[in-house]
Amino acid sequence: MKLSGSILSNSLSAKEAIEIYNKTDIDYIHIDVMDGKFVEKKTYTIGDIVKYSKLTNKPLDVHLMVNNPDKYIDDLSMLNVNNITFHLEAVKKPMDVINHIKGNGVRAGVAISPETNVKELMEYLPYIDYALVMTVNPGASGQKFMESMLYKIDILRKAIDENCFNTLIYVDGGVNESNIELLHEKKVDMIVSSNYFLSGNTYQIIKDLKSRY
Ligand code: DX5
Ligand code: ZN
Repeated sequence: MKLSGSILSNSLSAKEAIEIYNKTDIDYIHIDVMDGKFVEKKTYTIGDIVKYSKLTNKPLDVHLMVNNPDKYIDDLSMLNVNNITFHLEAVKKPMDVINHIKGNGVRAGVAISPETNVKELMEYLPYIDYALVMTVNPGASGQKFMESMLYKIDILRKAIDENCFNTLIYVDGGVNESNIELLHEKKVDMIVSSNYFLSGNTYQIIKDLKSRY
């Protein structure tokens, strides 16, 4: 299971979080972009992300919680960005956004918010690199993991396995010590977290998780 460390912390600056992750074996640095429209909060601009990308050698995993993901894709593709995720709820033509990301040589993922029916994602599974299941409402770190979202992972896993798709499953929000084992059992390919990784000794937490999974 891969680990993506979110820099959206309630106590640390983005720079501090990146510097902490740099000292670990974490696989990705997760950047939560919010536009103040798709979600209430506003976070990083492209300019901020350019700065952050210079602070690390780790590949960036960008989560666009924005109404117009197309606006960000070309600029992000110039950076050390491996993954671009957009929200199914935010766009009218998801296939166009998927093609835009993949056309730039970046891995494309589609996220679904808790209120979205997982069935809406099914038709895109053959074309995306990963599906991201939100286990909190998008917009903030430190929220409680929604166990009621677990069935979505089961449905995705079944569809992916039955059809022999290569699509990976990512989970974002509220992941912690008490649910990570279950996510591992469900063969989740990557988890995103900020609170779990950044509260405590991050180096040790990542080291332990890497040896366990
Ligand atoms: C929530 C973000 C998450 C968030 C995760 O909108 O997409 O990436 O930073 O933070 P925790 O792990 O604290 O829920
Ligand atoms: Zn995120």
